This record gives sequence, structure tokens and C-alpha cells, in this order.
Amino acid sequence: MSRLSGKIAVVTGAGRGIGRAIALRFAHEGALLALCDLNLEQLETVAAEARQVGAPAASAARVDVANRAEVEAFIAQASQQLGTPNILVNNAGIFFNASLLDMTDEQWDRMMSINTKSVFLMTQAVLKRWVAEDIKGSIVNLASISSDIAFTNSAAYCASKAAVSALTRVTALEYGPHGIRCNAMAPGIIDTSMLPDPEGAKVWANKIPLRRLGQPDDVADLALYLASDEARYITGATMYVDGGWMIE
Ligand SMILES: NC(=O)c1ccc[n+]([C@@H]2O[C@H](COP(=O)([O-])OP(=O)(O)OC[C@H]3O[C@@H](n4cnc5c(N)ncnc54)[C@H](O)[C@@H]3O)[C@@H](O)[C@H]2O)c1
Repeated sequence: MSRLSGKIAVVTGAGRGIGRAIALRFAHEGALLALCDLNLEQLETVAAEARQVGAPAASAARVDVANRAEVEAFIAQASQQLGTPNILVNNAGIFFNASLLDMTDEQWDRMMSINTKSVFLMTQAVLKRWVAEDIKGSIVNLASISSDIAFTNSAAYCASKAAVSALTRVTALEYGPHGIRCNAMAPGIIDTSMLPDPEGAKVWANKIPLRRLGQPDDVADLALYLASDEARYITGATMYVDGGWMIE
């Protein structure tokens, strides 16, 4: 039997990169998918691919995950179309470099809204339903090795991802008694369009114990595990998927 058959999964930021890989991995395991992204054209291609590889249904919606009204409307529509979701992957996120001295209020607020507030909004929208309907759902958040270590010119990104790890633990603590699980993944450097300097990233690969950058599928396999019932006794964890980066 497929590992996610009968499950309904929301994946944010599924139009490309890690979110796309997670959507396709879940589709392969038989999940019904409610996908969202800012880029609807890319997302519709992913939804079509997902149906091809095994998703019984895959919807695509243009949603700004930092906007409460859009998030609530998306979860309401997904619930109506597919049934109440029982898996939520908070993947959408942004990255940019800015030194502390140069960073504007607008840049700081944008990073916090898209990377952190979105997790709060999406989590709240599904939790309301899970508690009311007694659904023992699973949330998987995208933290980062930047949740735990510092990178120069990345104050807002590091702070936004540290907050995601903290939010993960509190969600797990508050809703564990309902049978609801919440975990985070902390990727190292994953080869996606998010990398500001792909050539520089290749140099970093030589410093990673496994001697390569991560691929989106490396993260998708961990997402599948955490979302599935195989991780039934794991909650509040932030798991590294970093080729060993954090050992050193
Ligand atoms: N790539 C890495 O090295 C790395 C490392 C650690 C953590 N992460 C995290 O993984 C997640 C995915 O990153 P990625 O590398 O696949 O990035 P990516 O830039 O390739 O994809 C991000 C997706 O999110 C979407 N998105 C951005 N803002 C949005 C918004 N406001 N509303 C809806 N969708 C929005 C984008 O359109 C895009 O499709 C992010 O949370 C990122 O911080 C990435």
C-alpha cells in the first residue's frame, strides 16, 4: 500500500524547488494534494505532474502565504474540494542577503511575514479544523541550518528560521494532547533557485562531509517520513538534512 494513501496534503510554495519535490514525492505515495504558490503557471505544471505520478487529485491555487485572508480562503476551499487536509507542509519561503546596517524595515518585515508569519497563519487555519473535527494531523515546517548557526548578511533569514523551529516546538507541545504532530526539517545547502550564488555554493560542497550539495529529493524523502504515520512518535523535532554540515 502507498505510504500516504487516503491522506490529504497541503504543500505551500510547491511551484518549484523543494516544495515541488515534496508535492511529487507525496503524489507518488498516493496523497491528494492542495498546492499553493505565488506563481500559478509553474504550480499548474506541478499539479499536472503530480496527477501523472499518482495523486488521485491535485489542485493549484495562487496564494500569498503571508496574507491571512488568502490563507483562510485557500484552506476553506481545499477542505471543500478534497476534504479537510491532514498533512500541512509549510515550505514557501524567501532568502536575500542584507547586512544588519543596510537592512530596511520593509526587508525585515517581508522576510518575517513570508518565512515565519505564514507558518503561524497556515498552522492556525488547519488547527482550527483539526481540533473541531478530531483530526490527528501532521505539520512539517521548513526550518534551516540557519535556525541554529549564523551566516553573515543573513540576520533576517536566520531569525525567521530560528522562529520557525521555536514555533514548531510550541505547536507540538500545545497540540500533542490532541494527537497532532508538528516537526521541522533543517536543510543545509540545497541546489534550488534560492541559492544566491550557485558557483560559490559548489565551493561549499567541498566542505560538506558528504561532499555534495543537497538535492530537493533529499528533503522530500524526510518530509514524507515526518508526514507519514511512520513518524507517529516524533513531534517537536527539528531534523537536519544537511549532508553532515552541522557535525563540524
Ligand atoms: N535551498 C536551500 O538551500 C534551503 C536551505 C534551507 C531551507 N530552505 C527552505 O526551504 C524552503 C523552500 O526553498 P527552495 O530552495 O525550494 O526555494 P525556491 O525559491 O526554489 O522556492 C520557493 C517557492 O516559494 C514560493 N513563494 C515565495 N514567496 C511566497 C509567498 N509569499 N506565497 C506563496 N508562495 C511563495 C516561490 O514562488 C517558490 O515557488 C524555504 O522555506 C527555504 O527557506 C531552503
